[in-house]
Amino acid sequence: MCGIFGAVSSTHVQDSLIKGLSKLEYRGYDSAGISLITKTKKIKRLRCVGKVKNLKSLVSKSKSSGVCGIAHTRWATHGKPILKNSHPHNSDEVSIVHNGIIENSDDLKIFLKKKKFKFTSDTDSEVIAHLFSYYSKKSSDSISTMKAVAQKLQGSFAIAAICERWPDKLIAACNGSPLLVGAKKGSNFISSDIHALSESTNKYVPLADNEIVEIDSDNYQIYNFTGKKISRKTSSTKKQTKIVSKGEYNHFMQKEIYEQQEIISNAIKHQIGKKGLLPNIFGPNSDKLLLKTKHIHFVACGTSYNAALIAKYWIEEITDIVCTAEIASEYRYRTVNVPSGTLFVAISQSGETADTIYSLKKAKNRNYCSILSICNVPESSITRLSDLVYLTHAGPEISVASTKAFTSQLIALLFMTMVLSRTSKNKAIEQTILKQVKSLPAIIKKTFLLEKEIKKIAKNFKNKKHTLFLGRGVSYPIALEAALKLKEITYIHAEGYAAGELKHGPLALVDKNLPVIGLMPDNNLVNQVLSNLAEVRARQGLVYIFTNKKLSGSKVDKTNVINMPSCGHFVSPLVYVIPMQLLSYFVAIEKKTNIDQPRNLAKSVTVE
Ligand code: M6R
Repeated sequence: MCGIFGAVSSTHVQDSLIKGLSKLEYRGYDSAGISLITKTKKIKRLRCVGKVKNLKSLVSKSKSSGVCGIAHTRWATHGKPILKNSHPHNSDEVSIVHNGIIENSDDLKIFLKKKKFKFTSDTDSEVIAHLFSYYSKKSSDSISTMKAVAQKLQGSFAIAAICERWPDKLIAACNGSPLLVGAKKGSNFISSDIHALSESTNKYVPLADNEIVEIDSDNYQIYNFTGKKISRKTSSTKKQTKIVSKGEYNHFMQKEIYEQQEIISNAIKHQIGKKGLLPNIFGPNSDKLLLKTKHIHFVACGTSYNAALIAKYWIEEITDIVCTAEIASEYRYRTVNVPSGTLFVAISQSGETADTIYSLKKAKNRNYCSILSICNVPESSITRLSDLVYLTHAGPEISVASTKAFTSQLIALLFMTMVLSRTSKNKAIEQTILKQVKSLPAIIKKTFLLEKEIKKIAKNFKNKKHTLFLGRGVSYPIALEAALKLKEITYIHAEGYAAGELKHGPLALVDKNLPVIGLMPDNNLVNQVLSNLAEVRARQGLVYIFTNKKLSGSKVDKTNVINMPSCGHFVSPLVYVIPMQLLSYFVAIEKKTNIDQPRNLAKSVTVE
């Protein structure tokens, strides 16, 4: 799971390669590397373990330069994050970078070893370098070489290669892993995403699956894997490059948590008019389409999947529409029934998550009435592939742990629920939700006042090994999200459970060392949640309750009750997730972990 950037220019490219690579670090930060064709037409490779900043200083110390080069930032899949496994991988006269997984790498290794190629890494990617070298000796040009290589590979890949035999050209190919060409007078580029191109050019052409591109400083030409020329016009990106900084905050995660009030206010300002929700906010004619929809298949990963789960609760509560929320890595491989009138909805912050992209591509070949994406990144792979797009406008989310992207997705899904509610017999429900949505910014502001109290509680988690989060109804996905956040940035094992499910097994874990957090908005499920928490307390579990219900009676131990501001039923997930984000953040502070870039993770998961 990696980022690829490449450039060919009439001037030196090493600086633009480093700049492009820095923007791709969200895809992985285990190691980074660069290969250039130098003045003497020889390949010079520089690699290092860790982040792009380490590579930057290596490149400037080495004073290496060239007009044609490739660069890579890695998230380890095959082989440890050590120097020998860092990209680029070299073979005779060849250097390559790769994103994806080569499924038949073991077979190819056997073939290549017989041809006397020596392997120096544990990666699947190295086979590509040797294959390219092997076929380059048999071909007269770079296109037929790449064509021969691509035809041997099984799995998903985006590849960029340079070769001393064709020192002024860069050759790239992709299948199942995104790659774009960036075009400018006197320079051309390739990149894993549009964002990394933004410093170099605003003109881009996406490659489709099974395509090859050859670029030099003046031209680029796309081919398919059979060698046929493909002509495709460049598009212009509207995206402005904005430097994102932490400002007054200590971490991006902290900043992003606090941005949520403004993001929600902006969503309300932009999507709600005097008479209520503006028409067709999900794209041209989307209201009509939504009102005809009989089923919705939500597909997403991680935090975005938790948002999908909440949408299912909301929509099924007030309409007859049947919703499923499914993890993309499951959806993509299973047999899916698509009844007529089904809408496919992909939810993704980055728009580059491989499993979600594959699921969306699968959905495009089924009889869905439309493919809608809810996404934070304009012009990302997912938005480009969708029929309808809702942009969440949360701004760049830098912290690996997703916070503001989640609440901005929830607001979008609540807007969708409002449109769908027009099919309900309860004609007042849209207004009820609208009123609650409008009240949100002020409630969120009040929720932030809990910071001090949460900071204090966080100290109690520092030495804990496990934590349970419990919720019912719409609070159950918030329990899942709270557990995901805690695991991700504090490395404490955490589980989210439907509170009623506890007694079916997990109750066995409860003892005096296990913190159990109950999420209990004041709704029709309070008594059930209280009973579940009483079961925990009876086994000496350490119960914390987040609630806006005024608690009284013998079932309640008021010592660890965190009083939440009151809020409407529909908006409670957006309110209750905030103290959970803050709790994880402050526990991570206590544990001194790398909050914005937790170990083993990447912001965007671009391999399956
Ligand atoms: O960019 P996406 O929303 O598609 O990403 C999905 C997940 O990888 C992501 O939400 C992940 O679970 C977060 N790091 C959680 O905080």
